Amino acid sequence: MTENIRRPRKPDYLMVVPDVNGLNRAAVDDIRVAAEAAIREHGRFTIALSGGNTPRGVYSLLAEEKDTFPWTKTYFFFGDERSVPPDHPDSNYRMARESLFSKVPVPEQNIFRIAAELGAAKAAEQYENTLKQFFTLQAGQWPRFDLILLGIGEEGHTASLFPESAALTETSRMVVSNWIEKLKTERITFTFPLINNAGEAMFLVAGAGKAEIIRDVFLTEGEKYPVQRVHPAHGRLLWIVDQAAASLL
Ligand code: 6PG
Repeated sequence: MTENIRRPRKPDYLMVVPDVNGLNRAAVDDIRVAAEAAIREHGRFTIALSGGNTPRGVYSLLAEEKDTFPWTKTYFFFGDERSVPPDHPDSNYRMARESLFSKVPVPEQNIFRIAAELGAAKAAEQYENTLKQFFTLQAGQWPRFDLILLGIGEEGHTASLFPESAALTETSRMVVSNWIEKLKTERITFTFPLINNAGEAMFLVAGAGKAEIIRDVFLTEGEKYPVQRVHPAHGRLLWIVDQAAASLL
């Protein structure tokens, strides 16, 4: 049984689920609702996938809807990518291909991979141009993804927006290369203005290792962690958190 708590303090929705299976189920159910609403409203569903480990189970469960999900009207993007080729074990694209794309009839032209093999700066520039073309933007307009999936790192990063990294303060670019001192590597990432223009942002958080960060995010004020800067200005912010990660709330 999931509790659906609407916290009075912020316009977030916190859904606490029993375990990772509950997280996967809740995420897939919400993705389907978002897809059906988007297609009803504007004929297509645009989703930016998150990387790391947590989403893998969500993508695998979503793949079980291979015969019913509106794949031809769904367009897949990536909220961030590592500086590795698409077949590298660390590639977010590879993880999504293995757990989802390889199992469902999504048209290849509906999948927009970040070409990290070009180098982070070039890949970010190219991806930003891809977004501008796909969303046919007027000058000054920002893409509005129907749904952006996100995770939380144990030090409070999301996408590849890490503490004390330059991209945290980016306000004009949609996609940038970002040096991550902790990892000694460049990554490609959506920026906060792009994330906060989404129709919905969905955090997927599991495991006791995230309990302290979840406590701090929900029970302290301020923007100590990058993840606290995610607040879609005209959209929904949903947190799907398992009981282990919510254990300090
Ligand atoms: C990445 C992700 C990153 C991820 C967090 C949490 O490229 O690694 O985009 O932001 O969401 O690191 O990862 P887990 O959910 O696997 O702990």
